[in-house]
Amino acid sequence: MTDLSAAAPEPVAEERTGTPVDAQEILVLDYGGQYSQLIARRVRDCGVFSELMPHHVGLERVAERKPRGIILSGGPASVYAPGAPRLERGLLELGVPVLGICYGMQLLVHELGGRVEQAEVGEFGRSQLTVSDPGVLLAGTPSEQVCWMSHRDTVYQAPAGFTALASSSASPVAAVEDTERGIYGIQFHPEVVHTPYGEEILIRFLAEICGCDRTWSAAGIVDEQIARIREQIGNGRVICGLSGGVDSSVAALLVHRAVGDQLTCVFVDHGLMRKAEGEQVISAFRDTFKVPLVAVDAEQRFLEKLKGVSDPEAKRKAIGAEFIRVFEEEAAKISAEEPARYLVQGTLYSDVIESGGGTGAATIKSHHNVGGLPDDLQFELVEPLRTLFKDEVRAVGAELGLPERLVWRQPFPGPGLAIRVVGGEATKERLDVLREADHILQEEIRKAGLYRELWQSFCVLPDVRTVGVQGDERTYGYVIVIRAVTSDDAMTADWARLPYELLETIASRMINELREVNRVVLDITSKPPGTIEWE
Ligand code: XMP
Repeated sequence: MTDLSAAAPEPVAEERTGTPVDAQEILVLDYGGQYSQLIARRVRDCGVFSELMPHHVGLERVAERKPRGIILSGGPASVYAPGAPRLERGLLELGVPVLGICYGMQLLVHELGGRVEQAEVGEFGRSQLTVSDPGVLLAGTPSEQVCWMSHRDTVYQAPAGFTALASSSASPVAAVEDTERGIYGIQFHPEVVHTPYGEEILIRFLAEICGCDRTWSAAGIVDEQIARIREQIGNGRVICGLSGGVDSSVAALLVHRAVGDQLTCVFVDHGLMRKAEGEQVISAFRDTFKVPLVAVDAEQRFLEKLKGVSDPEAKRKAIGAEFIRVFEEEAAKISAEEPARYLVQGTLYSDVIESGGGTGAATIKSHHNVGGLPDDLQFELVEPLRTLFKDEVRAVGAELGLPERLVWRQPFPGPGLAIRVVGGEATKERLDVLREADHILQEEIRKAGLYRELWQSFCVLPDVRTVGVQGDERTYGYVIVIRAVTSDDAMTADWARLPYELLETIASRMINELREVNRVVLDITSKPPGTIEWE
């Protein structure tokens, strides 16, 4: 299998407006580093709530959050480059500890009078760290340890008042601290798994230095979220477009816990789902959780709209537009007696960061899983997952008793199988072949115990036929492409090294069980240069 531990680059955060859900909070100021989001995630993994803010957010905004500590992230700039992000000196006067990581450390050192210079060679990847004086930050970690570096500039001399704690071959000063002023810096990345003592070092910063009690967990905030939802909705009516994905499922369940039958879920089956997916969603919500649910079988309507459409973006538009029509019709029926004022969205924290934040009422996810809802929908948004990362949403889902199958469902695009019939029209016949092939793939991957390790695994059906021979007869059938990838966040992905025996079983089942298929191929393209989907 591909090494699942590789940390993927994270997008640069911009303005965001999450609300703190815990009094003990660590703010991560983002200087544009590829691991900035990961730092916030790791801090949360260590039991302390953490949010990302752009480095230029301003002292006032930082101060009003009353963080227990501040982390300055890495970033691509050199402190000497014109226009390089600067340090707001007031941050050091807030009376809370500050930890600079990589560029964050260089910035602290440079601003406080130490010496930062471009090294003769950059230091990228694994490095050997030699700890000369563990100080407070590195206490309890070995004097020789491996760490992950990614920098060109390096610190040659710590500022006055600082103690240099460690070095590596290309970093004369790889960690510093000034316990009097509460300022700490590390050149390496504690947030990536390739730094084995990274978590311990982060915990030292959070617990010993910032005094956090490390009791935060995503599952632990369910009650708090429910109270907030009740406060927002009061006794109003609320609707939720359920897609079957983990985000909308968890959001809907939380809202149902909060306001019960004031919620109605709408599940639009566009006929582009995977096999039995619709029934699973309906059974979980209607039968198990007793959530009022309107399930609309709209397959014919969608197939009609997809007639003659082969361009990927045209497919997405056709599906998105039809989805809105169906959803609006159903919403109008639900609202006929008493208008629904609220709409539940499964917006995640990563969406908030990537879309540049906003106040919640204004932003409707442009790539929403159901195809994008129009801006003029007259609803106030309820977004109970707005401060959570995906893995935390799964933890909340498990806490709420969502079946494992739904909790661990791999991401599935809103336009569904239509964008996996590639290069041609998504006809009912092709969709059915693809759905059956996909079912075989999922069954075998689950049987092999690999489902959760893969970010996504699916089949693609190109609009071509190839010649084969079966039982002395010439065949002219469909090709099925197997696509399986590992990823942290879909920004980058690697093709999964599925075992040959498994691939053989899958291929022979597809060819034996599906008359229309006579060839199976494997996609071994990573992202970049490929994308995960084929369209
Ligand atoms: P790509 O193909 O761009 O996909 O590497 C990245 C992630 O996004 C999903 N995806 C979509 N999701 N509507 C969605 O809701 C879409 O139109 C869409 N296109 C791609 C894809 O499955 C992967 O997880």
